Amino acid sequence: MPAPVVAALNMKGGVGKTTLAAHVFREVFATKSLSVLLIDLDPQYNLSQQLLTKRTYESLGSSGKTALRLFEPAPTSDFFDINTSKMEPNNPKEFAFQLMYLVTKPNKNISLIAGTFELTKYSFISDNSKLNHARDHFKHAISKARSEYDLIVLDMNPSSSFLTLCGLAVATDVFSPVRPDKFSVLGLDLVKRLIDHPSVSPAPNLHIVMNGVRRGHSITDTEKDIRVADFFKDKILTNRIYHSGVLAARSDYTGFASERKVANKIQISGELRNVGVELCGRMGL
Ligand SMILES: Nc1ncnc2c1ncn2[C@@H]1O[C@H](COP(=O)(O)OP(=O)(O)OP(=O)(O)O)[C@@H](O)[C@H]1O
Ligand SMILES: [Mg+2]
Repeated sequence: MPAPVVAALNMKGGVGKTTLAAHVFREVFATKSLSVLLIDLDPQYNLSQQLLTKRTYESLGSSGKTALRLFEPAPTSDFFDINTSKMEPNNPKEFAFQLMYLVTKPNKNISLIAGTFELTKYSFISDNSKLNHARDHFKHAISKARSEYDLIVLDMNPSSSFLTLCGLAVATDVFSPVRPDKFSVLGLDLVKRLIDHPSVSPAPNLHIVMNGVRRGHSITDTEKDIRVADFFKDKILTNRIYHSGVLAARSDYTGFASERKVANKIQISGELRNVGVELCGRMGL
């Protein structure tokens, strides 16, 4: 079976897409011994900044090993152009940077294809035939990756763009973190509308996780509303992620935050693992 492709998506910014794309799937890799490919499809490339040192990131960029290669076989001389040569996409494994592997099973690893600001160019180009070419190249590249890894995770940006449509064209599943506040739920409504749209076919399965829940506080009205709403109630995970200083981004640390040597990480690691295992169960992994 080709690997599932999970898009971390919510049209609301700052809800934890990147944080959970990294940490939940790091736990899935370690707990379930699955090879995981993380792909940073956000032009802001926060996932890459979080997981790669500046030096590694620059060396991947200078050797052209970024997510741009999933859309085009080679760079263009004009930045605002798309390479439409009919070259077979390279195996995405060739652009992936291996972050960790399991000592007991060295062929099981978690790897990252770095994001790049250059992905913004697809928002400026209006030539539909060239954009379609890039999207088809991406679909082909992802289908190759699906036979190399057990799970592919796409970290998406919050705006609706060409990249969002490309992600939805290949996603079997959508993983939507939601903050328990009323503004966060607006983004979720937009995700629903997008995956319901006839152009997104087959519709990916939606999985919602409450993120940043405050310990010791009672369940918010927003969470109550989602848990009873007809469309959302079967899609929301039982396990939740609490607000945690361990998960908060730090400018002085690169890597998985759950590996930082801090005292209170056991609890959050358990929560991340529970979400990962529940999600895998829903995806049949
Ligand atoms: N459970 C949590 N506990 C504490 N901090 C969190 C938690 N989840 C996310 N954060 C912090 O919230 C901020 C936003 O998270 P993140 O960047 O993952 O959101 P995002 O949805 O990917 O944002 P964007 O829409 O900009 O891509 C980050 O500083 C992150 O460290
Ligand atoms: Mg993000």
